[in-house]
Formats: sequence, structure tokens, C-alpha cells
Amino acid sequence: MSLKKNLSETVLKKMFYGADYNPEQWKLDPAILEEDFKLMKEARCTSMSLGIFSWTLYEPSEGKFEFEWMDRLMDQFADSGMKAFLATPSGSKPMWMSEKYPEIRKVDRSGKLEPSGRRHNHCLSSSVYKEKVRIINEKLAQRYAKHPALALWHLGNELQGECFCSGCLNRFHNWLEDKYKNLDALNEAWWARFWNHTITDWKQIDPRDETIDCLVVDWKRFTNDLHIEFLENERIPLDRYTPEIPCTTNYMGTHPQLNYGEWSKVLDVVSNDTYPEYDGSSKMWEHAAEVSMICDLMRGLNQGQPWMQMECSPSLVNWKRVNKLKRPGVHKMETTQYIAHGADTLHYFQFRKGRGGFEKFHGAIVDHDSRTDTRVFKEVQEVGERLEALEEVVGSKIVGNKTALIYDWESQWAINSSCGIKQPSLKKGVNIGTDAYNEIQYDHYRGAWSAGLGMDLLLALPEGLGELSNYNLILAPALYLLRDSVSEQLKEFVMNGGTLVLSHRSGVVNEHNQVHLGGLPGLGLNEIAGVKVEEIDALFEHETVQVQGNSKTYSLRESLGRLYPMGAEVMFKYLDGPLKDQPAVTRNSLGQGEVWMLAANFDKEFYHDFYNSQVEAKRLSRSIDVKLPLGVASTKREKEGVAYHFLINYTDQVQTIELPKEDSFSNLETGEILQKVHLDAYGSIILKT
Ligand code: GLA
Ligand code: ZN
Repeated sequence: MSLKKNLSETVLKKMFYGADYNPEQWKLDPAILEEDFKLMKEARCTSMSLGIFSWTLYEPSEGKFEFEWMDRLMDQFADSGMKAFLATPSGSKPMWMSEKYPEIRKVDRSGKLEPSGRRHNHCLSSSVYKEKVRIINEKLAQRYAKHPALALWHLGNELQGECFCSGCLNRFHNWLEDKYKNLDALNEAWWARFWNHTITDWKQIDPRDETIDCLVVDWKRFTNDLHIEFLENERIPLDRYTPEIPCTTNYMGTHPQLNYGEWSKVLDVVSNDTYPEYDGSSKMWEHAAEVSMICDLMRGLNQGQPWMQMECSPSLVNWKRVNKLKRPGVHKMETTQYIAHGADTLHYFQFRKGRGGFEKFHGAIVDHDSRTDTRVFKEVQEVGERLEALEEVVGSKIVGNKTALIYDWESQWAINSSCGIKQPSLKKGVNIGTDAYNEIQYDHYRGAWSAGLGMDLLLALPEGLGELSNYNLILAPALYLLRDSVSEQLKEFVMNGGTLVLSHRSGVVNEHNQVHLGGLPGLGLNEIAGVKVEEIDALFEHETVQVQGNSKTYSLRESLGRLYPMGAEVMFKYLDGPLKDQPAVTRNSLGQGEVWMLAANFDKEFYHDFYNSQVEAKRLSRSIDVKLPLGVASTKREKEGVAYHFLINYTDQVQTIELPKEDSFSNLETGEILQKVHLDAYGSIILKT
């Protein structure tokens, strides 16, 4: 049983709708505040995150606290019936503190102490900083414990980073000693005789030595543990004074250093920041699938509980190379997407644009002119209206998916630290994950998504994958770091009738980033797949290779595996290129189930057709029982016997969908009964059955 504080049961009666709110930038000018609250109402907002960067305002000098300004704000929230996600201010330390206690500043990779300013740059293990955080959190928790506006603790902001100070290095050495007990075990685990790296004293260990690739993974595990320890430290006073108020911290998608699978064990609610590359191009739907995967990952991090979209932009951002405005309809499409995938909160960055500083041109609900007739403001109102109509959806969940994709941060770390693995040639946005690991997850997810399958994301944690018996189809592409426990679960899943999909990078190393011996995929997966991956070839950007199966040909990119079948049936062959005429895709029947090996990075059409054929061959049920046009997707949330179908058109074309005859679908927002749905470019609809 989960002991987590549940957001929807404790405080949430309707969708939270709001933004990051920074009134301190306006010196808390009463006229601006008054206008802000008026505009919040007009924008249909119900909540705001506040106090994120306010530490110096609370504590202008050491031990001298001023909370009256926040008292007034909190009262204003309560008076206007709004909720506050009160931040703990640890994301940015006061300048006086950084100057007085330089050890709270991060030391960078080159050994340099960082300057006092910027943000998100504290030393992770500094006991001084942790104590200061505990003190300010205790003051906040004591003061606002019973305040009617307080809905949630927003711990810090986008917690991240690594520190190379002597304190952190010492902690790392102790962490390693704790883990390995003696240097022989460490040297063995790290394959340390390579290049004469045998460690003879814990103090010799330098996390910057990337030639020991297990060290790199251990350093990430250690840094991740420090972040978790930091969050737990933040919680101590909050749990004491506000035991019923849930805690969250805003995640950053598939962040390459942070294993949110572990973080979510110490937080009540999952929240996430996403800034998609919704550029209005005809390929935008392909990226929408990636965003959907991240949303499903967020849902998976807390066992399917409703989660929070904590930040996204109501228009453009200011930090991309090219900052695009959203095309008409895209704003509503994007925000509906988050709710469709199980979010019960929609917050933007930011409520009002500041006059100066790094983010003065970042999109906001309220622009510098404070007008309510801007395109953005009107779109925000329109989304607010939709969220009001969706009140009954709050607390509903996506249940009963029969397909799962395994997501594993440690595989991401291990692949990306293993020298020689080709990284994708096309780099995309930020917080979206654009490395060899995420790229192949997206390929498979996108294929299954475009075939209409609803998916759960399962975390591969050291303790295993959780319950698999509810699934028919499991996708384990690039499950690169494979542990015995997970391999056993997958074998059992297949024996009991499941279909398992592997790729050429599945089951390659153990938890020490050492290659499994005896043929890949290792730990017996090659036996259940009836095939070994003998070698992997990488392609130049200009090289193309075709594959053929049935009567269709597809192309592939990046890399391809040479397969050695040991009983598996060959389903596709390479038509040309370095492995001409050799198998590219195999299938093996085993027990009641089967295992597929997809040994390359195929084109998008391949994955689409492959997962469609799985749906048809195995009669897998789609989220909605119709074949949707490419680029249109659906999800289903359910509560108390009612189903809410979200149909979203991620393309720039008008789309028509005939609804299944068996059910009576009504438009949640208008009540109209529909047999057919017309979706404008980027249009969406929520149907009730
Ligand atoms: C992040 C931060 C915010 C803001 C936005 C801008 O998500 O958490 O404070 O800087 O980026 O996009
Ligand atoms: Zn440090």
C-alpha cells in the first residue's frame, strides 16, 4: 500500500490551472498585484507556483526573516479562492549566503568554484546548505501550515547538477566503500585492470575519468542519491508541520543525469516541465509521439496516479536557437495532450513577463502590455474554459493498457557512457532526450502509438519491473543494462503467452556496464529470442540500407545488427548494404508466447506497420476501437464506470474519424451525441462513453 499523499484526494476538486508567478520581480507593487489577481481570474487560473526564487526576500540577511509580504500574497490567494503551490526557495541561494559560505557553491568539472550568482548550482552534499534549507523550510511550514491557500510543496526548482568539490568527492569515495566494501571488489566491478587503472586507495578515484565506464555509471548513481538525500532533507520540516500537504519537485522529462524512477519513491506527486518543438511542420506529429511518451513516463513514475504538468510555455520560449510562436490551435492541442495522458494540473512558465533579466522575452500569460485581448491571453482563457468543462475528469486514470514499454535510466547511462555506440545524427530540443537510448525508445513508442495502442511505461529498477501479467505486449528496445531479475521476469512473461520485442541493443551489459558473456542479448534472452546479435555496424549519415519483409521495403539509419538465428524464423532481410541478404528481423515462438528481434534503427513507417501488424495478428485492443489516421492519437481515462476518450489531431490536415458503432459517444464539452468526428488541424475533442 502506498503511503503517499494523494493530490487528487486531499486538495484537488478541479483541474489546477496556473503558472509560475514571480511578483517579487515587481517589488510586490500593490497596483501590479491587484492587477495580477484580476488577470488571473480573467485567465481562468485556479493556482500559481510561487516563492521559487524568493529566498533573499524571506531572509535578507542571515537569520533575519520577513514573511509579511508572503502572508499578504497567500491571503490574497485564499480570498480569491485560488491555491498556492508554495516553493521551497532552494533553487537559487541568496548572494549573501554564497559569499559567506562559499562551500555551498558548486565546484565544476575543471575544479573551479562557481560564482555566487545564476541558479540551480549549489553543492549537493554541503551540510551548511542543507541546514539553511531546513531552517527556511521549517519557517515556511510553521507559518503556512494551516493556511487555506496552501495546496502543495514545490521543492526547489528543476533540481539537477553535479559537484566536484572535495566534500562531494569524499562522499563518493565513502559511497563506493559502502557499496563494494573492498578495493578488490571495486576493481573487479570496474574492470579496472584496463589501461592499468587498478585503484589502490579510495582517494585515487576521480569521477572525471570517463575511460572507466562503470565508474561513470556509479558516479551518476551516486549523484542521483545525493539529489534524493537533498529532497529528503527538504521534506523533514515539511512533513513535521504539514503532514497532509503533498510534496513534488518539477522533473525534466528523460533528463540524462537524473533517475526519476528512484526520486519518485520519496515524493508524493510527479510533476514535469516540457517545452516541445511544436514548430507547425508536417512532421510535427512524429514529435508529438515523443512528448506522449514522456507524459506516459510521468504517469508510470507514480503507478498511474494523476500527475502535474508543472511548466510549459503558453507561446514561445527564449532559449532555443530559433524560438517559434505556436501555430493556431497548437497551444490547445499541446495542453490537451498533457491532460489526455493523465495530468490533472496544467501550469505554464510564466504568469507575467518580467521587464528585465534572462527571461524577459520568454512567453507568458500576461505580456508587457498587460492586455487581455492578446492572442496568447485569449488562448489561455480558451484552455481554461476547457479545463473547467473537464472537472469531472479529475482523478480519472488510464487503466487496462495491455502494452508496456520498459524505460530504464540506467540503460540510458550505460549506453551513453559506452564508447563506440553511434549517437543519433539529428539533434533535437531540450528535456526531450536525444541520445542513442532515447532515440530508439521513441521509435518503438511512436510505432505502437501510431498503431493506436495505449501504453504504460514500466521502470526497470533494481528490484524488477513490477507486475507484468496484465500485459500482452512488452517493448524492451535498448534494454541495454540487463539484470537477472528483469531477464527472469521477461522469460516468464513470454512463457505465459506474452509477446516481447527486443532490439539490437537489448541485454548487452550487467549492472557494472560489463558485457554479458555467452552471446547477446545476454542472460538467456538470446535463447528465448532464438537468435544472437553477432555484430553491430554503424552507418554514415549519407548511407542508406533497405530491408524487406512481406512485400514491402523500408529503409534504416544509424546502426544495424548482424543476426545469427538459432531457431528463430527470419521475417525481414537486409536488401543491400554491408549485411545484404542477412536477417534483420526474427520471430521466435516459445511457450505460449513469442519474441521478436528488431535488429536495426528502422524508419518510422516500419515501426508503424510492425505494431499495426501486431495489433491485427493478436487482436490487441486499441485505446479506441477504430484505425485512426496517421498523426491522430487517442487515450482513455476512466473513473467510476465512465470513460473519457481524448482524440487529438497532431497534423496540419483536417481529419475525419468514424466512431465505433457499439458505444454511444457524447462530446464532453457540448453534450452532443456523435457518430463521426471532424478534427481541424491540431484539433482535439473529449468524448464520453
Ligand atoms: C525551466 C525553469 C523555469 C524557466 C523555464 C523557461 O523550466 O524551471 O524557471 O526558466 O525553464 O523555459
Ligand atoms: Zn560539492
